[in-house]
Amino acid sequence: MPRNSPSNAPRDPESRVMEKAYAHWAPVYDALCGPIFVNGRRAAAKAARQVGGQILEIGVGTGLSFDDYDASTEITGIDISEPMIARARLRAASGRYPFVKGLAVMDAQELRFAEASFDCVVGQFVITLVADPERVLSECARVVKPGGQIILVNHLYSERGLAAAFERLLAQKARTFGLRPEFPFARLADWAARHGGAELIERRKVKPFGVYTLVRFRRIEQQRVAA
Ligand SMILES: C[S@@+](CC[C@H](N)C(=O)[O-])C[C@H]1O[C@@H](n2cnc3c(N)ncnc32)[C@H](O)[C@@H]1O
Repeated sequence: MPRNSPSNAPRDPESRVMEKAYAHWAPVYDALCGPIFVNGRRAAAKAARQVGGQILEIGVGTGLSFDDYDASTEITGIDISEPMIARARLRAASGRYPFVKGLAVMDAQELRFAEASFDCVVGQFVITLVADPERVLSECARVVKPGGQIILVNHLYSERGLAAAFERLLAQKARTFGLRPEFPFARLADWAARHGGAELIERRKVKPFGVYTLVRFRRIEQQRVAA
């Protein structure tokens, strides 16, 4: 359960942009984004089910992913947007997802959970949106148990060619809509190299179209970090 922390703590301006953007998105999110992200969501949840146990979903949104989990897991979801979490709560209240154990409004940059609380942390289409992705990754590494995993799925920046040029153009206006299409994979890999407590164990394109990338990190056991 979340550690005590003032819920009215001042938020950084980027987080306020997200809150505002997703207050607008919430009523139409399932219809618009549900089908677009479905393959990525399923791939990430499948990887998380293989870890099993206590799973934290950061940026859980309206809880579309609940359909992709089962009773082998216990899901806690957090999101910075109250209207998105309100929808996730409604979905959970249907009774179809008894494995959803908690939903809270929370900034992924400042998780109110104790160290090593979860077997797995999942971020579906969120890491590219937060103001400080490295801080979010470090928070994920803090709350995941040694040997546990951090699983991310996202569209990652093409880095080269025509697609990269198009994405850079799109990026100029996308932020106000709660999007950030110019996020490179290297940023995730660099974080792991600097952090030292998490190792990259998988990076793969999600089938069938390969638009999204699934990335998995494993929290290194304490004795291996020290070695
Ligand atoms: C594109 S939606 C993805 C929602 C869900 N994961 C899915 O795949 O349907 C991104 C979500 O991340 C949330 N978000 C953005 N910044 C956040 C932050 N700093 N902490 C927690 N959630 C955040 C947004 O409110 C939104 O619900």
